[in-house]
Amino acid sequence: MVSIRPAMMKDLLAMQRCNLLCLPENYQLKYYFYHILSWPQLLYVAEDYDGKIVGYVLAKMEEDASEVHGHITSLAVARSHRKLGLATKLMNAAHRAMEQVFDAEYSSLHVRVTNKGAHHLYMETLGYRIHDIEAKYYADGEDAYDMRRVLKEKKKVGNKKGENSADQPEAKER
Ligand SMILES: CC(C)(COP(=O)(O)OP(=O)(O)OC[C@H]1O[C@@H](n2cnc3c(N)ncnc32)[C@H](O)[C@@H]1OP(=O)(O)O)[C@@H](O)C(=O)NCCC(=O)NCCS
Repeated sequence: MVSIRPAMMKDLLAMQRCNLLCLPENYQLKYYFYHILSWPQLLYVAEDYDGKIVGYVLAKMEEDASEVHGHITSLAVARSHRKLGLATKLMNAAHRAMEQVFDAEYSSLHVRVTNKGAHHLYMETLGYRIHDIEAKYYADGEDAYDMRRVLKEKKKVGNKKGENSADQPEAKER
């Protein structure tokens, strides 16, 4: 049995190990510390029955943008534990905290244009939409989709009757 729980300081090395095994985008340990010290509510791990960390989500808040929004820095699930719904649960936990703790309007992320498995997770399962394409975003020259998902609908004060009060932040499909 695998449980999803908030990450703790003691998990950071195991999260880094999982990242190294799963993704070419890797980070120094201090970057994990920066996340957990800044936004401790936005890091979650999937822990197996024996205490092994088999997945994680590392997220943060973008504070210099005009709109308050969260950003998924990194997500990975160990090969041995894929297609069990763990990434969906990790992402949902991060989304909930972005919205409830930080009042985030939307969540953003980057994903390789060839990462079809992740596209299914983000678009079909979690409702992300492609907002933009960032050319040569990755170190090897691959392009990234800049994806976004609305977390809460903006409330417009003084809307005229009949106007749609729900405003999707710039999200558009391509
Ligand atoms: C992408 C990744 C995080 C998915 O993790 P996971 O725990 O297997 O995902 P889930 O079990 O929650 O699956 C969610 C949905 O995506 C689908 N999915 C997952 N992997 C898939 C794949 N390789 N191909 C097609 N669909 C896939 C599942 O079938 C499920 O669909 P459903 O909701 O319609 O039933 C995992 O494959 C991984 O760690 N990959 C390497 C790292 C990576 O690419 N991270 C994302 C970088 S942006």
